[in-house]
Amino acid sequence: MSNDRVLRVGLLGAGTVGAEVARLMVANQVDLAARAGVGLVITKIAVRDLTTPRPGIDPSILTTDSDSIVTDPEIDLVIEVMGGIEPARSLILKAMTHGKAVVTANKALLAKHGAELFHASDLADVDFYYEAAVAGAIPILRPLAESLVGDHVERVMGIINGTTNYILTKMHETGASFEGALLEAQALGYAEADPTADVDGFDAAAKAAILAGLAFHTQVTDEDVYREGIRAITADDVSVAKAMGFVIKLLAIAEANELHGSQEETISVRVHPTMIPVTHPLAAVREAFNAVFVKCESAGELMFYGRGAGGTPTASAILGDLVAVARNRNEGSLGPTETDYADLDIAPIGVSRTRYLIRMDVADVPGVLASVASTVAKNDVSIMTVRQEGRGGDAELVVLTHIATESSLANTVKDLRELEVVQKVVSVIRVEGLI
Ligand code: NAP
Ligand code: HSE
Repeated sequence: MSNDRVLRVGLLGAGTVGAEVARLMVANQVDLAARAGVGLVITKIAVRDLTTPRPGIDPSILTTDSDSIVTDPEIDLVIEVMGGIEPARSLILKAMTHGKAVVTANKALLAKHGAELFHASDLADVDFYYEAAVAGAIPILRPLAESLVGDHVERVMGIINGTTNYILTKMHETGASFEGALLEAQALGYAEADPTADVDGFDAAAKAAILAGLAFHTQVTDEDVYREGIRAITADDVSVAKAMGFVIKLLAIAEANELHGSQEETISVRVHPTMIPVTHPLAAVREAFNAVFVKCESAGELMFYGRGAGGTPTASAILGDLVAVARNRNEGSLGPTETDYADLDIAPIGVSRTRYLIRMDVADVPGVLASVASTVAKNDVSIMTVRQEGRGGDAELVVLTHIATESSLANTVKDLRELEVVQKVVSVIRVEGLI
């Protein structure tokens, strides 16, 4: 199909993702134009360093002046793939006030300033799309915002950070330590030299905030998300989990809390290492893959699986957004805007309910089990299974609880630490996926 009409695109960033967006827009230009109903052409690209070799990109369209892109009257749409908070935030806002639609992959920015950006796109009457911001290539935001908008989401639970999933997979499958698996992830280019954003759960928390906002029609920021990373997970934790038929994953969980009496509905959003049975569908998600499990009142359980990162998979999601914007423009319409009408409160972590695995070093003497059991029961937590392994004068006790609140569990652990027979509470790991 030939098309004389053109939608002019400005690209902010030509790194891992931006370079692939540029390459695919040229490689697939005929198909993209046919699907969009208009030719799609990149007319300017902002980068920091003009001397970096960028194969396939015409150097004459590169600039270090990002402002000249977002204010250019000839540009219809801006794709922001530079990352970070500033100048990305100011540039997006300026692009919108200059009447340009915006597509971004920037989860860190959306999780901090999403409300401001949605408001600005409403005021400017421009499209704002961000499918690539969560789980890379996996279509999950549009399904939540559009396909499932007639349903009632009860829970979203997912593996939404590829780096930590790679590390935990290696620990599970090879017995590697956290440090050893991290080095391997860095050598393969999954983890950055400073792995903080991934291993300490910041990246997953930002994505969890975006998922929760869409699922529960509420503004959620990264500050609202309870977060624990995977640095404290040891090879021993993984080996105990494995022996019990579990695998440890860094899960993001957003859920509606159970209502008691006349309580107002609240949601919980958390990211933490979690044990799930090896038979759970999320347990089969290996290496750097992502998957998101959504439980709805009418649709039941759904799972979305695929590549959560990488230039080409992420560019796929961006190009999908680009075509969506082009189609909207052809029809003189706009895509769906943010809905935050429900405005639910986000409950503190103490209210969340799950099961827990508590590993303790204890004195191997008569009465240990009884004293541990009564301490647990005193805090309104009940025991599902207990496993004890003798090791000479002492033993390891592994207690799996029934569902309890985080605050009951915290009190239990505090009291266990004070017991004379408990030498050390080695670790506490949350457990999901048991019926
Ligand atoms: P990247 O490789 O670091 O690329 C960033 C690009 O932006 C580079 O081209 C850089 O220029 C340019 N840039 C940065 N600051 C700039 C500034 N102030 N002015 C002009 N240009 C600037 O990052 P990426 O991995 O492509 O990620 C981009 C975005 O996509 C981030 O928001 C990230 O969270 C998101 N994302 C990434 C992935 C992934 O797998 N990488 C997946 C999903 C979402 P130079 O080339 O000159 O340095
Ligand atoms: N660092 C992220 C990950 C990239 O490991 O999943 C995609 O956001």
